[in-house]
Formats: sequence, C-alpha cells, structure tokens
Amino acid sequence: MFEPRITDTVQGIIKDYIYEGDVVIDATVGNGFDTVFLAEQVGENGEVYGFDIQDIAIEQTKIRLNQRKLMDRVTLIKDSHENINKYVKSSVKAAMFNLGYLPKGDKKIITKPESTIKSIEQIIDMLESNGLISIISYYGHEGGKEEKDVVELYLGELNNKKYDVITVKYENRKMNAPIIYLVRKK
Ligand SMILES: C[S@@+](CC[C@H](N)C(=O)[O-])C[C@H]1O[C@@H](n2cnc3c(N)ncnc32)[C@H](O)[C@@H]1O
Repeated sequence: MFEPRITDTVQGIIKDYIYEGDVVIDATVGNGFDTVFLAEQVGENGEVYGFDIQDIAIEQTKIRLNQRKLMDRVTLIKDSHENINKYVKSSVKAAMFNLGYLPKGDKKIITKPESTIKSIEQIIDMLESNGLISIISYYGHEGGKEEKDVVELYLGELNNKKYDVITVKYENRKMNAPIIYLVRKK
C-alpha cells in the first residue's frame, strides 16, 4: 500500500497548478526531492530556480538532477531565499518551502523567521494568478515554533480578496506534527 508522506501530499496538491513551460521556485532545496519533482512538472521548456545556503544541499541536488537528466531546466543558487529578487526576474507559477533543517544534515542550520518571511513576501509579489506557494513547517526543533508562529501570523493577515490561505494539519498526531500552508493567488 502507498503510504504518502507529507511531502507527497504537497506534491500531489501543487501538481495541479504547474504546467509545462512554467517558471517555479524551490526555496529550500535540501536533498533535492522537490527540485526533481518541480523539474519534471515544468518540462524541458520550463525553469526551476532552487535556493539553499548549504553547499552539500546544492551538490546533492545537482547529482540527483544529473542522474535524471533534468539539470538543463534548473538553476541552483547557493544563497538565502531572502535574496530571490536578485535572481528571479520573471513571474512564477509556484514555489515550495520545506522549513526546518536538512534531513541527515547539520540540525543547527535551520530556516529562520525573518528570511522566510522576506522570501515569502517576494514570491507573493511574483506569483501569477492561480499560482500556489506551499510551505511545510516542521517545528519540533529549537526555533521551529517561533518560525511557525511568525509564518502563521503573516499568512493570516494576507488580504482575502487577493489570496486564499489554507492550512492542512494532522488532527490525530501528537505534538509538533508538520503543518502545510498553501497560498493561492486569486
Ligand atoms: C527541510 S530542508 C529541505 C528539504 C528539501 N525540500 C528536500 O526535498 O529534500 C530545509 C533546507 O533549507 C535550507 N535553508 C535554511 N535556511 C535557508 C535560507 N535562508 N535560504 C535557503 N535555504 C535555506 C537548509 O539548508 C535545508 O537544506
């Protein structure tokens, strides 16, 4: 039986918003699973911009993309996603965030509230109509709860005439189960 992980759930949702030729962003590349997924969705005429502050994440993702011959449509950038404006000059159809630390990596290197919000703000400005931003918040680690609260506050104040903001969460799991936030531009 297929047991979807939370990342599969998000991919299943965002898939419907992405078409061949679209420009999309992976704001937290990590091990590159979402980058590969996005590269497959946009096809050979699309473009994926992937951001991470760690060399290891960029390198691992490059390997993963090359193995699948997908590197031609991906630009990997070793910089904070708060600087997305510097690199992405077009509108975007979708963006994915996976907050927290790199699985199997240095657990002290985590996404931070201020840069996460700056990045979301910039992407919201670039988002096309019926474009989607997905954010998975893992917040069991130190600093995670603060980031989750800041993200929640920010998203909760977005103008509902312009954006739909939806939260998907587990009701039957113990503390700190990850939460999905979805922002759709109307
Ligand atoms: C939970 S992991 C991402 C997992 C990834 N989506 C995957 O499919 O494997 C979070 C990543 O965010 C990165 N990160 C932390 N702060 C960042 C920032 N300011 N800008 C971009 N990436 C950042 C970390 O280095 C880490 O690799």
